[in-house]
Amino acid sequence: MISMMGGLLLRRCDPDSDMGVIVNLERAIFRPSEQYTLGFINWLCRNCTRYSFIAIMDGKPVGYIISCIEGFGRGHVISVGVLSEYRRRGVGTELLRRSICEMVRDGVDYVILEVRVSNTPAITLYRKLGFEVRDLLRAYYSDGEDGYLMVLDNERFRGFVNRYCSVTKQPT
Ligand SMILES: CC(C)(COP(=O)(O)OP(=O)(O)OC[C@H]1O[C@@H](n2cnc3c(N)ncnc32)[C@H](O)[C@@H]1OP(=O)(O)O)[C@@H](O)C(=O)NCCC(=O)NCCS
Repeated sequence: MISMMGGLLLRRCDPDSDMGVIVNLERAIFRPSEQYTLGFINWLCRNCTRYSFIAIMDGKPVGYIISCIEGFGRGHVISVGVLSEYRRRGVGTELLRRSICEMVRDGVDYVILEVRVSNTPAITLYRKLGFEVRDLLRAYYSDGEDGYLMVLDNERFRGFVNRYCSVTKQPT
């Protein structure tokens, strides 16, 4: 386990034992229409382990992030969430910093994610870290809501790396 800040621990997701933890968090955080299938979570846990983390506070899992490297140098934040009673304490920020910095270590030079256009908390957080809206994804979600494609690249990517990644690098 790796101590990050006051009472918050981040640990890398273990595909053999953390599937249930991630599923439970996902069920608690997202509406049923927004949840991934068990099969997809299983696939993600197995294939994106290096960049996926669970946040622990008060001795229990309170948040998670799943990210993957796809193709040439592209990082993709696939899912991030924090239990409602633990929000606005920096957990989401730490999960994103850690996951993105691990992908940077493995060579990504930009990061993308998708977000519902109505998701102001998440959009605010992503903007704060340097992401910007690059495209509108019409009816991207299964309930018909549009999404934004947000990207962290160029100077804002370099700014992120300079600001966050030297201090968050940890031995594997
Ligand atoms: C988005 C989410 C992960 C943020 O997690 P968090 O731990 O609360 O985030 P942080 O505490 O690190 O917030 C960092 C900053 O983001 C912004 N932010 C976070 N929540 C916000 C809100 N409800 N309203 C406005 N700004 C918000 C703020 O600028 C905040 O800094 P501040 O608290 O100093 O003002 C969390 O709200 C969540 O799990 N939401 C439901 C799941 C979800 O929508 N996931 C994203 C799917 S793309």
